[in-house]
Amino acid sequence: MLPSQVTIVEVGPRDGLQNEKQPVDTAHKVELVHRLQAAGLREIEVTSYVSPKWVPQMADNAQVMAGIRRAGGVRYSVLVPNLKGLEAALAGGPATRPDEVVVFGAASEAFSRRNINCGIDESIERFAPVVAAAHEAGLKVRGAISCALGCPYQGEVSAEAVEHVVRLMKGIGVDHVGVADTIGVGTPRKVQAAMERALEHYPLGEVSGHFHDTYGQALANIYACLELGVHHFDASVAGLGGCPYAKGATGNVATEDVVFMLNGLGIATGIDLDALVDAGAFIGDVLGRPPVSRVARAVLAKRAAAQ
Ligand code: HMG
Ligand code: MG
Repeated sequence: MLPSQVTIVEVGPRDGLQNEKQPVDTAHKVELVHRLQAAGLREIEVTSYVSPKWVPQMADNAQVMAGIRRAGGVRYSVLVPNLKGLEAALAGGPATRPDEVVVFGAASEAFSRRNINCGIDESIERFAPVVAAAHEAGLKVRGAISCALGCPYQGEVSAEAVEHVVRLMKGIGVDHVGVADTIGVGTPRKVQAAMERALEHYPLGEVSGHFHDTYGQALANIYACLELGVHHFDASVAGLGGCPYAKGATGNVATEDVVFMLNGLGIATGIDLDALVDAGAFIGDVLGRPPVSRVARAVLAKRAAAQ
């Protein structure tokens, strides 16, 4: 039986925008968060406290966090690669403080080095004090495991390699793990194999899927996870996204597409699809291109035809 309810972590403001070459105004980022929470998203990954030299688009992290009008019941998360990032995320006090932080490792040694400039073991050593300090500050910690289904530098990534990192993350007290297909090469059975490894160490409620849709497999992969009972997924409005250190990787699965599929399956998300499509159209206008989401395009075309 499939889950009756799914939680979507909206990663558009972070994963969606981090790879944009053109500058996006802080005010537009803030407005995107406002529109997403108004559409019913209850978990939003807002920004990253990473080096602005590595990811210039996220340099306004503190201003974005300060600009958000917090809505009740919404959890705001940010990426932190190290203690410096966590300290910056906490520096503004309660007004800018996230509810959760995300440390991001990889199942591929090569990608780890490209993305965060250290190998897997060293990344875990760096994350350990971040997890401890985040817990001390009362924050939940998610751990993203990039390249869990394939690596742009190394190629194949085994389920054993995924489990290895899951175990390391568990060992340092990470509360939740996200199995991430950074370059969108996973297919359903392979995704299930990776997820099953994560589920050997974490309960169903603390494992999530993060699927980029480069090869058009993301919805099928989400369905494959639903079959296992997994009920947390990251998605990005308008299908925005990509990692600057994973060349050729396109956007995340579009939140609109996930919500449409879940609606059809009778699985509750609490998200208003029409308002979500509006949020996607808004950021599409800002970026000067229409949403990648097939559902958003269909809804917008239908609206235009009805006018
Ligand atoms: P490094 O160069 O090894 O770091 O980078 P360092 O400690 O040697 O410091 C070098 C400089 O960076 C220093 O500044 C530090 O102060 C500064 P300088 O003295 O040269 O002026 N620095 C920082 N500045 C701001 N915030 C910080 C910070 N840390 C150091 N937190 C580092 C290591 C991790 C910092 C760097 O590699 C980095 O920022 N990487 C981020 C890469 C990134 O954001 N990638 C995209 C997100 S991951 C993703 O998209 C995948 C995901 O979606 C899942 C999936 O799809 O797979 C999550
Ligand atoms: Mg990603």
